[in-house]
Amino acid sequence: MRTIDWVDGAVELIDQTALPGRLTVLRLTTVDELVAAIQRLAVRGAPALGVAGALGVALAAHQPGDVAAAVRRLETARPTAVNLARGVRRVAARLPEGADAVLAEALAIRDEEIAAAAAMASLGADLLAELCGTRPRLLTHCNTGALAAVVGGTALGAVLELHRRDALGAVLASETRPLLQGARLTAWELGRAGVPYRVAVDGAGPFLMARGEVDGVVLGADRICANGDVINKIGTYAHALGAHRAGIPFVVVAPESTVDPDTADGTQVEIEDRGAAEVLSYGHAPQEYGHAPQEDSRATREHDQPAGVDGVGAVNPAFDVTPYELVTAIVTERRVIRLDRGERV
Ligand code: MRU
Repeated sequence: MRTIDWVDGAVELIDQTALPGRLTVLRLTTVDELVAAIQRLAVRGAPALGVAGALGVALAAHQPGDVAAAVRRLETARPTAVNLARGVRRVAARLPEGADAVLAEALAIRDEEIAAAAAMASLGADLLAELCGTRPRLLTHCNTGALAAVVGGTALGAVLELHRRDALGAVLASETRPLLQGARLTAWELGRAGVPYRVAVDGAGPFLMARGEVDGVVLGADRICANGDVINKIGTYAHALGAHRAGIPFVVVAPESTVDPDTADGTQVEIEDRGAAEVLSYGHAPQEYGHAPQEDSRATREHDQPAGVDGVGAVNPAFDVTPYELVTAIVTERRVIRLDRGERV
């Protein structure tokens, strides 16, 4: 099953806010619906966002209305993953040729991500086997599986490939506060694949590495800068520091569509701030993970339990920057970049 696809003139996608409780497919027929789905993380993860943006332009091209405005709204729906704006712009460049050409370009992006996932899984598994020893115990963060792509995934795709080779020890899935992509989505994917795994709170990662319980860290990226800095889900930097201190490999697996040579380094990247509500509440109904970014106040919905004192503020950067010096290697579908040996993006 594909996480996102074009089906009979509409965008269909798995609603990731409902997992692991319910596996629901949303059918979206307007750009408004798609932008809302992107902003509340019904669809998420860099490769999937690139495909969502691309298919969004196809939706706009097949309907009456202001296509240029639709393109702008899609490309700015979330700011950090380069795949989204890149996918939107690449497809929008075909608008003068008509709706069929636009759809063909969007489907090409989808198909490229599908092919990239298979290649990354293979290259990534090879590298993890080489760097992390026999049957490694791997820590991963956020969700980088099929749900973050169209099929297969990036870092989790490599982990699953190791499992298929019967060469994986076990996985520690870092829970990924505040929206729990690790505890909800990665756990769901690993469970379905029969991979032995446990969930750990984000703060436990560096300690478990220090205690010798992790042989390597493998995770994805939302943007890889020209100098090799890696932008990924908040908590990634702490895991990189932990891995560095523990002397274990820190491997990033991401498609070339996430590599951004136009961004010099991590200081140049807009980090999405998702507002206070996600941090200051917990216990959402399963379908309610992901707030619109403009919801910046205390959550008041009936399932939310306030976790802070009245009137407290919060800061909620959705991503962080891991300096390239902390990255052992970056794996894409085409190459393995050994930053630890001085190779550069
Ligand atoms: O906010 P999200 O869930 O879209 O963030 C996703 C991540 O940070 C992933 O690690 C990244 O997109 C890589 S997905 C293969």
